[in-house]
Amino acid sequence: MSKFEHIFFACAAFLVACQRSKQVPAPIQVPLQTDHSFGNADKVRTKHLHLDLKVDFKSKTLSGTATHTLDRQGNDSVMILDSRNLFVDEVTLDDGSKTDFRLGVADSLFGTAIVIPLKPGTKKVNLRYHTDSLSEALQWLNPAQTHDRRHPFLFTQSQAILARTWIPLMDRPDVRFTYSARISCPKELMALMSASNPQQRNDSGIYHFNMPQPVSSYLMALAVGDVAFKPLDSISGVYAEPGFLDSVAWELADMPQMIEKASALYGDYPWGRYDVLVLPPSFPFGGMENPRLTFATPTIIAGDRSLTSLVAHELAHSWSGNLVTNATWNDFWLNEGFTVYFENRIVEAVYGKDFADMCAELEVGELERTVSRMMRENPADTRLALNLKGRNPDDGLTDIAYIKGFLFLKHLEQLVGRPRWDAFLKEYFRVHSFKTITTGTFNDYVQEHLLQTAREAVAAKLNDWIYGEGLPDNAPRPASERMKLAREAAAKYQRSRKPDPAMVKGWVTQQYQHFLRNLPKDINAAELEALDQAFGFSRSGNAEIQCDWFTLAATALYRPAFASMEAFLVRVGRRKFLKPVYEALSATPQGLEMGRAIFKRAKPGYHSVSAGSIAEILHVQP
Ligand code: BES
Ligand code: ZN
Repeated sequence: MSKFEHIFFACAAFLVACQRSKQVPAPIQVPLQTDHSFGNADKVRTKHLHLDLKVDFKSKTLSGTATHTLDRQGNDSVMILDSRNLFVDEVTLDDGSKTDFRLGVADSLFGTAIVIPLKPGTKKVNLRYHTDSLSEALQWLNPAQTHDRRHPFLFTQSQAILARTWIPLMDRPDVRFTYSARISCPKELMALMSASNPQQRNDSGIYHFNMPQPVSSYLMALAVGDVAFKPLDSISGVYAEPGFLDSVAWELADMPQMIEKASALYGDYPWGRYDVLVLPPSFPFGGMENPRLTFATPTIIAGDRSLTSLVAHELAHSWSGNLVTNATWNDFWLNEGFTVYFENRIVEAVYGKDFADMCAELEVGELERTVSRMMRENPADTRLALNLKGRNPDDGLTDIAYIKGFLFLKHLEQLVGRPRWDAFLKEYFRVHSFKTITTGTFNDYVQEHLLQTAREAVAAKLNDWIYGEGLPDNAPRPASERMKLAREAAAKYQRSRKPDPAMVKGWVTQQYQHFLRNLPKDINAAELEALDQAFGFSRSGNAEIQCDWFTLAATALYRPAFASMEAFLVRVGRRKFLKPVYEALSATPQGLEMGRAIFKRAKPGYHSVSAGSIAEILHVQP
């Protein structure tokens, strides 16, 4: 044996010995307890969670401890938590004694169960852990990806099942717990959570949080960045990067009025403060209803307050979703359908009936397209009550939960009349406050407390709406005066194929959206060029219009729009805007090639949920 071979074999033997002495136990088979979680909430649940985490931008990790205070049924049990791409270093029980936890076999979708043996009197379980670059809830941004380009930024997105990628917990919406946290971050930055929040940066870089009302895991949220606060009134305000703060405050100035109208409709605002944090453009959603602190995309800052209904939506979740919560992801429409309905009522109260009807009409147009596509591809998913067992609950994030759910509630409103309906809804929110409920519970509650006569019970068609596919033929059809103008303009264009600049006078965003979505399907690049010259769509700074316009440009391969389209796809990470444009690109071989090249450049700036969806569309690795 040569000297090198000696050393090699000695090292190899040493490594094997080390491995043995560490005795990493083999992963065990752990069954799912619900369609999407390993958490054994029937035996033991978290009553309170305390987090003590350090935010490290260099290593892009969170590290620290999660302490669960338990609510136990009986004494002889283990506690099973969800995790995914998390590293648990040590688990101790209340007296500080270490416990031999075991990990489950990793599931590519649901992650790894953490099985923790409890002692008879155990009241607290303490996990020391850290995240890594695969922890999908987290997006770590470089300064260049922020508005002010001066400091890095971190935000989380937990819904639907990503809380388990940054906190070991029972990641199922029917487990509600209060929480507190101590977050330590770089001194130049401020930390914010879905809880009581600081309004100023401090010099220690240490922030304390408290959420005294029980919330579900998907509402856990953290953001760390160079942000400042501006109050709008005594209970609401906005957070944004300093260079963006004034624009944000101007755009969202109607928030206090929204809170007032919402409370007048369905009961007092239940969470103390309501603030909005406007994030950098890579935020993958339009908004996320994190309690006390909605996270929002900067693409709603249009300069004309035309897109603020998104805030009405996230605010409405303070009742429908955060207060009365879907018990499982199969009941997702209870969160979103109710919220779209409530959003529409807030918009009506603040901006008038025609504006609310216009928004509804635009959405119903989308719903019809979605239903006809889904009836071909996966008709079972057009039911309000879903079956997402074994699937990613994100599959339920479609216009069905949102718009079909909305139309169902609007239908019930029309059936019994507004006064009765509003009284019913207010009571529904009160009775189910801080509870999680299923579609069945809602169905029973409607039969018992809303429908009064046999005629009403028949006309309500509850089962058709909830368990049937497609859209019942008694579905309401909202229509507005303003949308009529956009409809007429689209019809006129269909006939003449010539833009008429006079017709868009005084139009708002939603009218342009309707017009763009109802152009002839076979519109060509030359016709798009004429429209572009008349209306300047390629130069629009309004993300809703950009999305619809670039989708048309991608379909018809209208090249003059490509530079601004690429800039849009690289800067904005909101999945709702990215998907239609990439889908349109992928319809032609030329477009697909371009889409893949753009994605390659844009991907480092996308959050995992957007990157995953776009990779699927383009058939490439996420
Ligand atoms: N809660 C949702 C976002 C969500 C749902 C994230 C499911 C992950 C899984 C939020 O309230 C929402 O619906 N956002 C919409 C905006 C709204 C105005 C329709 C969005 O992000 O586009
Ligand atoms: Zn929502």
